[in-house]
Formats: sequence, C-alpha cells, structure tokens
Amino acid sequence: MWSSKLGFILAASGSAVGLGNIWGFPTQVASHGGAAFLLVYLVCVVVVGFPAMIAEITIGRRTNRNPVGAFKALSDNQFKYSLIGILGVICASMILAFYTVVAGWTVSYVFAELFHFLGLAHWEHYVANTQHGFINALFSIIFMGATVLIIVGGVTDGIERATKFMMPLLFMILLGLIGYVLFQPSAGIGLKKYLIPDFSKINVSLIFSAMGQAFFSLSLGVGGMITYGSYLSKNENIPEATAYVVLINTLIAFLAGLLILPAMYIAQAQGVTIFGPNGQLLERISLIFKVLPQLFHQLGGVTGFILGIVFFFLLSIAALTSTISLLEVPVSYAIDEHHLPRKKAAILVGMGILVISLIISFDISLIGLFVKIFNNIGLPLGGFLICMFLGYYWKTKNAITEMEAGYPGIRQSVFSKVWPFFIKVITPLAILYNLLNALGFISYLKNIFT
Ligand code: PHE
Repeated sequence: MWSSKLGFILAASGSAVGLGNIWGFPTQVASHGGAAFLLVYLVCVVVVGFPAMIAEITIGRRTNRNPVGAFKALSDNQFKYSLIGILGVICASMILAFYTVVAGWTVSYVFAELFHFLGLAHWEHYVANTQHGFINALFSIIFMGATVLIIVGGVTDGIERATKFMMPLLFMILLGLIGYVLFQPSAGIGLKKYLIPDFSKINVSLIFSAMGQAFFSLSLGVGGMITYGSYLSKNENIPEATAYVVLINTLIAFLAGLLILPAMYIAQAQGVTIFGPNGQLLERISLIFKVLPQLFHQLGGVTGFILGIVFFFLLSIAALTSTISLLEVPVSYAIDEHHLPRKKAAILVGMGILVISLIISFDISLIGLFVKIFNNIGLPLGGFLICMFLGYYWKTKNAITEMEAGYPGIRQSVFSKVWPFFIKVITPLAILYNLLNALGFISYLKNIFT
C-alpha cells in the first residue's frame, strides 16, 4: 500500500512522466504544427486519457490485484476476461524491453557529455553511438539493474521512496533548464513555432499521433494503472487523485516543449542542422541525440557541460520512474498468480525481459517494429477492452460504488452522470478509431471511397 495520497500521486505521475513527455511530446509538436498538436493532444487527454485512467485505477483498487488477477476476480475466474490482463502483462513487458534500450542511451549520453568535457574524444565517440550493439547492451543492463533494484524494494520502500525523491528533482531540473534556454537569443523562434498554432496541419495523421501520444504518455492500456491503483487506500478519492496525475503529466509535457523547441532553434541559429534535405525536421532520434549535444558543445565550456549532463540526467530519471512501473506489472502478476517472493519475481522477470533488450541492442531497427505492435496496436486494444469490460460487463454503477468509499458525495456529482457515458461510448469509440487507424483500416476505407 502507498503510505499516502501524495505517495500514490507521485508514483503514478512518475509512471506517466517519461521519455514520452520529454522526448516524444516536444518532437511530435515540432513536426505537427506546434500548438495545433498541443490542442488536439489536450482534447485526447480529457476525452480519452482521464476517463480511461479512472477506469484502470478503480479496477485495481476494487480487486487489490495485478491486471490478470483483477479481471479474474471481477468475472468469477472466467479465463476469457483474464486475457485482457494477460495482454497488458505482455505489452508492458515488451514495451519495457525496448524502453530499456532507449533509457540506456540517456545514461550513456551522460557519460558522453562528461568525456567531451574532459577532452576524451575517443571515449566520447565510443559511448555516444546509438548504433553500437555492445554499448547499447551494457547500458541496458545497467538500466534494468537499477529498475530491478527499486522493484525488489517493494511498493513503499522501493517505488514510493524512489519516486518521491526523483519527481521533485525532475521538476526542478526542468525549470532550471527552461530558465536558461528562454533567455538565449533566438529562443523566440522556437517559442513561436511551439505556441502559435498552424491549424492547416490538423489531419487524420495528427489526430492519430496525438491520441497515441496521450495514451502512451498516460501509461494506459497495459494495466500499469490497475497495478498502481491496487495499492491505493479505500479512503482516497479516485477521480481527484487521477486529475492530479493527469495534470502533472500534461504540465511536464508542456514544460518540456518550452525547453526542447527553443533549444532546437537556438541550435539552428548556432549553425546546427535541424532540417533534412527535403525541408523535413530531422528524425526524432537525431533531434535529441545529435542536435542537442551539438548545441551543448557549441555553447562549450562549463555551461555547455553542465547543460548537457543535466539534460541527459533529466531524461534518465524520467525514464527510470517509468521503467519501474512497467516492470511492476509482470512482477505483481508473478507474485500474485504464481506465488513467487517479490525479490525472486523481480530478478527473474527483469532478467527475462533483459534478454529481449539485449537482442534489440544489437539491432535497434527492431524498436520500430515493437512500437508498431505494442504501442500502436497493443495499447489501444488493451484500453478499448478495459473500457468495454468496465462499461458492459462489470458495469459503471459498480465502479461508482467503489469510488464512493473515498468520495462520499459522488452520487450527487456531475461526475457520476458524465463519466459512465464516456466509458461506455465516447472513450472506446475514440480508441477504436485509433486502433483501426493503426491496423490500416482507415486508409483502406479512404481508398475505397475516393
Ligand atoms: N508513460 C511513459 C512515458 O511517457 C511510458 C509508459 C507507457 C509507462 C506505458 C508505463 C506504461 O514515457
């Protein structure tokens, strides 16, 4: 059990705030018409993310179980419903497998910045290389080791203690970096690109990306929030706690935009290439792992060094608070359903997933494949099934009864009228749209009718 409401809010926001916020969101905004993307993203967060997160947390708290056990418990042990949880456990494990490799880069670039400052060019080039299989493997092992260590510590002494320390630190670092960047000349160009919407960029693909981004960023669809909700006390108000998590996650993504977009254009003003030959923004990996280091090195001296180290450290802690939530999903499953002690479960599951990370380390083109299958299809499929299960099998009135424990006035509230309609109709339809899009149905239909 979380020791307090704050403990839960920080752990859940730690899960949500990750590479998706600090890397994914700003680079998506940059390539999708600035604030136009931001606005569509906000709509997706309210219409899809917030209701779906409440659903997951309520299922978790009602059952006190891991995702597989939770669906079993609510359906009198029917195997077909436990499949929703099994899908979640598989998706969380596979996302963790590639996320660990990317998280490993964030650590190897901390070292690269250090070697650069010390003038150890040979070492710098050795570690600052996302294509180097051995380096990828080494830093994946380090990252998975840190994740397993925290999970072995358990819910309060591991996850809660780590996130209570890391989340405020992350926030302060982010503010500090923004403070520096916004005072640089040419920061204004990036700010304009970010905050002035280009509505002509809104199209099917932008909506698809914004919804996918919202889902991934809020850690939905894999049962992570079911697991974290299962450690939440009955006295807590679920909609209110969820609102905090969603707000913190959105705030951090917004702030990351204030850092990355100006930084990209400051880099351009310094002569760093940020657009490819056809005028397109560079690939998302290059923007973070090539453009930004070049900017830090142009600035040079102690300033460039501190900015570089601190920036990659920020990415590392954001990633770590997310990898622990991804690992906790299969670990809580192994503990509850296979009766393993926590330590053994964390080490075995962590090592199993690490084997896949090692394979990916030597062929990083696999990341694209994993993203397609597990992020673009697995997450919305999981989210859709969770909404359908809650709305039509377990029933929203039972969920409202569960929420009533920490929210006595719920039955008289507007929330109790609106949320069921979202969970039964609006949210699943929106998710279904994304799912069909990911499976190629939308473009198939478009081809038929045009
Ligand atoms: N939300 C995390 C991020 O933004 C990733 C994540 C997805 C974590 C799913 C847990 C579950 O990086």
